[in-house]
Amino acid sequence: MPKAQSIHHVFPKASQYDPKWVRKHSMGENVLFNLESLTKSLKLEPGMRVLDLGCGKAISSIFLAKEFGVTVWAVDEAISASANYERILEEGCQDKVIPLEIDARSLPFAEEYFDAVIVVDSYTYFGTDEKYLPFIARFIKPGGHIAIVDVCFKEEIETLEQVPDFLQEDYQNYWYFIHTIAWWRKLWEKTGLVQIEIAAQLPETELVRQEYIRDYENAEEPDPFAKALQLDEQHFIAFFKLIGRRTKKSAYLQTYKTQPKN
Ligand SMILES: C[S@@+](CC[C@H](N)C(=O)[O-])C[C@H]1O[C@@H](n2cnc3c(N)ncnc32)[C@H](O)[C@@H]1O
Repeated sequence: MPKAQSIHHVFPKASQYDPKWVRKHSMGENVLFNLESLTKSLKLEPGMRVLDLGCGKAISSIFLAKEFGVTVWAVDEAISASANYERILEEGCQDKVIPLEIDARSLPFAEEYFDAVIVVDSYTYFGTDEKYLPFIARFIKPGGHIAIVDVCFKEEIETLEQVPDFLQEDYQNYWYFIHTIAWWRKLWEKTGLVQIEIAAQLPETELVRQEYIRDYENAEEPDPFAKALQLDEQHFIAFFKLIGRRTKKSAYLQTYKTQPKN
């Protein structure tokens, strides 16, 4: 089967978007492939409120608004809300996507506001902190979802001796915060704040990997991630999705407040 047809078959929604536009606005793997894989396991309905956390250039938010009719708060701390708003306007999604330039660790939303929090290729930036799920869980309605898609390892690296040869050079810069699916499942399960609905490698991992390597083959700037994927003969690096359904348990946040002075 020719390659283009197979991509169309695997990602019927994402493959409708101009590949050059998607590559230009993806800040890692093809953001729409990752997102379509995630949304195959998540029920989204028109009118739902979705937080797209670490949205980068917000094309994931545009995709969610167009494909599912949800309203999306597109949050990123480093990409300007104005630049994202321009893209949102160009795609006619201004009534459905709200761009915000804020830190994922300091969100201004009401408790139980969102039906879903979606995080594409960004959760490892803040979510490895054990106290992040208790923080973000407050903004999700009971029965709502947190759904992430990201990079994982097939085996947990506990010590530097276990780092595979091809990752030795870059491990302490780019890879020390990458974990296995089992590690992520445990991190979330032990809080009781979510019930895990899916914790699995993306069935489309090979396609996502090949496309990413191909995208960067002729790139002017070398990409450490593409380099690692290319060197990874055993396919030690993979991609995973993790979806938790918010339970009714309230989130306890251990905070330290100074006593007011008399
Ligand atoms: C690898 S990029 C992925 C962006 C986009 N989701 C995509 O797949 O193209 C990670 C994004 O997370 C954002 N990010 C990292 N830490 C953040 C934080 N504390 N709060 C909000 N966004 C953050 C970065 O600014 C960046 O845009």
